Amino acid sequence: MSATSARRNSAVRVAVIGGGVIGLSCALELKRRGAEVVVYERGMEIGAGVTSRSAGMLGAAFEWSLEADELAMAALARQAGEMWPDFAARVERLGGGGVELSAEGALVVARTPAELDWLGGMAAACQARDLPVRRLAAAELKREEPALTGKVLGGLELPGDRQVDPQKLLLRLGAALGKSGVGIRMGRAIERVQIASGFQMQDGDKFERVVLATGAGSKPRFVSWQGDVLETGLPDIVPVKGQMLALAPVAGAPKHVVHARDVYIAPKARWVLVGATTERGKADTGVDPDQIARLKAAAVALAGRLADAPEVTAWAGVRPGTPDDKPLIGETAIPGVFAAMGHYRNGILLAPVTADVIADQVLDGKVSGLAKPFSPGRFDKPAKAPHSRSSKH
Ligand code: GLY
Repeated sequence: MSATSARRNSAVRVAVIGGGVIGLSCALELKRRGAEVVVYERGMEIGAGVTSRSAGMLGAAFEWSLEADELAMAALARQAGEMWPDFAARVERLGGGGVELSAEGALVVARTPAELDWLGGMAAACQARDLPVRRLAAAELKREEPALTGKVLGGLELPGDRQVDPQKLLLRLGAALGKSGVGIRMGRAIERVQIASGFQMQDGDKFERVVLATGAGSKPRFVSWQGDVLETGLPDIVPVKGQMLALAPVAGAPKHVVHARDVYIAPKARWVLVGATTERGKADTGVDPDQIARLKAAAVALAGRLADAPEVTAWAGVRPGTPDDKPLIGETAIPGVFAAMGHYRNGILLAPVTADVIADQVLDGKVSGLAKPFSPGRFDKPAKAPHSRSSKH
């Protein structure tokens, strides 16, 4: 960013509604480019929605390689993965501590001939999309990750699919925003925004632009000075519940993120996360012991030492889905109101790239080729049916 650009943006006041990883990352980038930014968070903690309940996997290759028609999504995810090391370094420097960005990538295992075919398709798709991938024979896979004790026929290494600890990330992002001079107003559910030469929040503060970074809950209504409700044109966010188990770290647990078709294992310093269910249309955060037991059994079948790991806790998060499961990034039908939402399974991965393209649009009116396919206005045309997530746990 040039000094001129920072000066040009210095007078722009932006309200970011939603203090999850996307809202916080957008706020940090907008501030870096010279805007004056306030984040409104409905809860009493940042990231209390889905961010703190996520596994923190940066799964650019795993999540998108197999979606045949999702080249734009793969490109966005790849760019996000490439931005992560610099993003993490900035957050760590400003936030005063680490986010546990892993050095190693993820492993994907096949236990049956059908799963080997699935891996073959994933490897070919990664190559076609320039996503780093390495095929591993069963013996190589076990050498790479000795914690894998179950029967495996082969695997993949996805070196670009790293991970972070989401709770540490939130802690550091919060500190980074404070240090950068971004205001964070907690316990402020914004239900109504008054439009009158700018955007007025319920606390009376006025802004020239608004970024909506809300999750699966409700969005604010925008009301004109005559009292008319103005439509953003945004589709409803679809709740997709995910249940997850945290096991105590034990000797012999995996060091890598390990994906199988029905489960993933994401080891952090403090615990080993095992996830996750995908329950479309469910917005509650209740935990079903049978689902948790199924996840644990699937993880233990892969990595036997996890059988000895005490269960620390289990929880559910509600992913923000969209009609096509791709994010909404860009200006809404109300000029000056931007969406950065609906990141479904990939909020943490996509945070730095979303922040970058949103800042381009909010401050400079520039819509990059990378961002165009994610315009919130795309549902003016009939939406395609959601792509199948049946290959994902
Ligand atoms: N990104 C993994 C999940 O949503 O469960």
